[in-house]
Amino acid sequence: MSTDDQFTLVSAEQRPDLIPAFAELAAPVWPAFIDGDRAIIECWDRLFDAGLSRFQFVVLRTGPRGAEQVVASSNSIPFAWAQPEDDASLSDDGWDAVLSAGVEAFVAGRPVNALSALSIVVAPELRGSDLAERLLRNMKARATKDGLQALVAPVRPTRKPSYPLTSFADYLGWTTDSGAPFDPWVRKHWQLGARIVKVAPRSMTVAAPLSQWTDWTGLRFPVSGRFHLPGGLAPLVVDCSAGTGLYEEPNVWMQHPLEP
Ligand SMILES: CC(C)(COP(=O)(O)OP(=O)(O)OC[C@H]1O[C@@H](n2cnc3c(N)ncnc32)[C@H](O)[C@@H]1OP(=O)(O)O)[C@@H](O)C(=O)NCCC(=O)NCCS
Repeated sequence: MSTDDQFTLVSAEQRPDLIPAFAELAAPVWPAFIDGDRAIIECWDRLFDAGLSRFQFVVLRTGPRGAEQVVASSNSIPFAWAQPEDDASLSDDGWDAVLSAGVEAFVAGRPVNALSALSIVVAPELRGSDLAERLLRNMKARATKDGLQALVAPVRPTRKPSYPLTSFADYLGWTTDSGAPFDPWVRKHWQLGARIVKVAPRSMTVAAPLSQWTDWTGLRFPVSGRFHLPGGLAPLVVDCSAGTGLYEEPNVWMQHPLEP
């Protein structure tokens, strides 16, 4: 457990009573349709099993009379990276693939050699503080402490939904006047030393009946085609004859340097 001014960083292993707070913090942040992601459905809850729970952290703020409030969270998972010397070998299926691979390795008791970031959430009132940075540094420290060789992240660029007409690749190429990545969340990783490795074109996949998509988005889909989703990084591809919609979200793999 580490304490810094009013904030304390604790793992879900240290405080299993706080496990429900991960979902409570995340619920208002992600578009509802992300709950339909196949890896989330199949694997997410395993992150809190003994053995993986020490990679899940929350930041606690202690108020007057000792009242605790969870104000930020981070999730990561160790996985077996077959070819760490070839970073292009990171999966095109990004986030889904690494979560599934990490859980499979954990269940089978197979050795792991790398850590992947999965999520960081900071409560809206504390954005712009250094909590996100602290959580990223903590992931690096965790990876080093566990003797892992690498820290990678299938990064979800936070501002991409505001630019739906721009391709993901073009958006990633945008820079600020000083030459830094334009997207603030990609930039934060970059400022901490991470470099862009490659795009993961199908990082998060959600396939569901159109009625389910209507429940998630409030949109109706009278014809087949591509539809922009609020909060989406890619269009929803609707097939009315099959009655289904497929969302394939690109993310970008980044790799952080680890101190020896
Ligand atoms: C992504 C998230 C964790 C970042 O937390 P944060 O506290 O805003 O992080 P930082 O303060 O370090 O900000 C990161 C950068 O974004 C910039 N930023 C923050 N809010 C911004 C906004 N509304 N518009 C543009 N830039 C913004 C900051 O200026 C900073 O850039 P800089 O360091 O070059 O100045 C937080 O926004 C969040 O919880 N978002 C919802 C969940 C999410 O999308 N997580 C990321 C995918 S896992």
